Amino acid sequence: MKKIRKAVIPVAGLGTRFLPATKAIPKEMLTIVDRPTIQYIVEEVVASGIEEVILITSAGKSAIENHFDYDFQLDTVLKEKNKARLREELNNISNLIDVVSVRQKEPLGLGHAIWMARNVVGDEPFLVLLGDDLVRSRVPCCKQMIKLYNRVGEAIVAIQRVPRDQTYQYGIVEGEETDIDNTYRVKRMVEKPAPGTSDSDMAIIGRYLLMPEIFDLLGRTTPGYGGEIQLTDALLALSKKRGMYAYEFEGRRYDAGDKLGYLKAIVDFALDHPALGEPFREHLEQICNGCSPADR
Ligand code: UTP
Repeated sequence: MKKIRKAVIPVAGLGTRFLPATKAIPKEMLTIVDRPTIQYIVEEVVASGIEEVILITSAGKSAIENHFDYDFQLDTVLKEKNKARLREELNNISNLIDVVSVRQKEPLGLGHAIWMARNVVGDEPFLVLLGDDLVRSRVPCCKQMIKLYNRVGEAIVAIQRVPRDQTYQYGIVEGEETDIDNTYRVKRMVEKPAPGTSDSDMAIIGRYLLMPEIFDLLGRTTPGYGGEIQLTDALLALSKKRGMYAYEFEGRRYDAGDKLGYLKAIVDFALDHPALGEPFREHLEQICNGCSPADR
């Protein structure tokens, strides 16, 4: 079985749900406490033992590439000013992992974005993490998926249960239980099902472990929902060709590309922060204990 060494992170979307904040700043660069969203995602990849990140970018997203690059000018200034700790912190970011970028010239959909990685990924299984999907967990979500892959040897989609009246917002998996905890064999998949058309509450989140055959299938996929090349259509074809598992991961997922999801992520990550957690908790308690807005 081939080792999982590469992770594709598509960040070429337009981020319209977060306008006007994302007019000039990529949504993946919006800050969660003290780091941009994308840094948490790359840190998850690193903590899962991955060797190379492939960013799928577009015009206007160069801030993301710069964030993981070495900044000679800044480093020189910090050195002159004896800011050793800050220098080390910044250099740690640029040394996190090898990052390769591929341009998606037009936003033709998530499926198309992943297809853009075909030459860099080559003939090996790989991970996909969406650049605005955060997971807070004891064991990194990708690491949990790699552990399962080492057992089943097939593609895996991470899922979470969602209220049934919200399934129309997600890619939904229908599957049957296996004898492995929290793991289902995928039977059917549907992108944003109309209410009442699927019994399942298993929603696909932004973590996938895929086989290289997906590239061929994506290349043959015609535009689906919203006129975009949908990943879900190619996933369904892959599940039929080779088999696929849906895995209910341990942890909590945040859609940081959505305003409410972003706010929830900030609160939960701030409460976990070693220095800020306690004073922030006190602040929240004050609010919850009925201080009037005027007291704040
Ligand atoms: P989203 O559905 O969040 O779309 O894409 P979006 O354009 O980024 O944001 P909204 O909905 O307009 O606010 C899911 C993931 O797929 C990537 C996005 O960057 C995000 O990580 N994506 C989407 C691409 O890389 N290319 C595309 O053509 C579309």
